[in-house]
Amino acid sequence: MGSGQQKVAVVTGASSGIGAATARHLADEGFEVVLTARRTERIEELAKEIEAKGGVARAVTLDVTDRAAVDAFAGSVGRVDVLINNAGGAFGAESVERGDPADWLAMYQVNVLGVLHMTQALLPGLRESGDGTVLILSSTAALAAYEGGGGYVAAKHAAHTIAATLRLELVGEPIRVIEIAPGMVKSEGFAVTRFRGDEAKAAAVYQGVSHPLTAEDIAETVTWAVTRPSHVNIDLLVVRPRAQASNYKVHRD
Ligand SMILES: NC(=O)c1ccc[n+]([C@@H]2O[C@H](COP(=O)([O-])OP(=O)(O)OC[C@H]3O[C@@H](n4cnc5c(N)ncnc54)[C@H](OP(=O)(O)O)[C@@H]3O)[C@@H](O)[C@H]2O)c1
Repeated sequence: MGSGQQKVAVVTGASSGIGAATARHLADEGFEVVLTARRTERIEELAKEIEAKGGVARAVTLDVTDRAAVDAFAGSVGRVDVLINNAGGAFGAESVERGDPADWLAMYQVNVLGVLHMTQALLPGLRESGDGTVLILSSTAALAAYEGGGGYVAAKHAAHTIAATLRLELVGEPIRVIEIAPGMVKSEGFAVTRFRGDEAKAAAVYQGVSHPLTAEDIAETVTWAVTRPSHVNIDLLVVRPRAQASNYKVHRD
């Protein structure tokens, strides 16, 4: 249970990349952070790191696709002011013609149903806080298609739709719904996961791009968005590196 005094931010996918960086930034801003992901050792290490710097952090192992586990988590987490729906990823880069339906299903489960499970389960607590925030990390894939992105684009479009619909449904309540849509971020795991551990293919994604975004860049953006005054709702923010003008128009040296 939380101390009941500090604002509490739950971050999904806090074991790597954007989620881990966001947890560090929110802790620096004075939030008690609840770090969730499937890889327990990583979130426990991060919690220790945050505590060593004077922050307050808890690590809770959680697979966002497991509804029973999410409900149990919601029942034990205590106070919650901010939910950062960050867990997600792309599996494969095949064309629609060649895509594996199992990959499409897995992407839907984590990027869409994961967000749905967490949001449904934590909404009562967010409402009770009197000033709640739901943030969804979608992607520029949520807004436009690109070749080889079909399953991920479809899933992130659905995540975008959750944000847009929820904002309409909750208007009048003290809960903000924020969507951050990053372009190319050179994070720890994203490209490696997409190419199933093939480091060479993963590295090629960023080849010649002088400055892709970093997890830090997005963590700063997320932290800025959730620390605006309560009446300010950053509906949707698209963040790309300067070298990227669209999902597939990228300048490479
Ligand atoms: N990198 C990019 O270019 C980019 C661009 C736009 C949007 N995004 C989005 O940003 C988010 C973070 O991605 P990233 O770049 O930081 O990638 P990452 O380094 O691979 O991190 C992904 C995180 O999601 C967690 N995760 C995956 N499946 C999960 C599940 N079933 N339950 C709980 N946690 C799960 C992972 O933790 P465990 O494996 O420990 O569970 C990991 O912490 C994703 O939603 C991604 O789609 C990334």
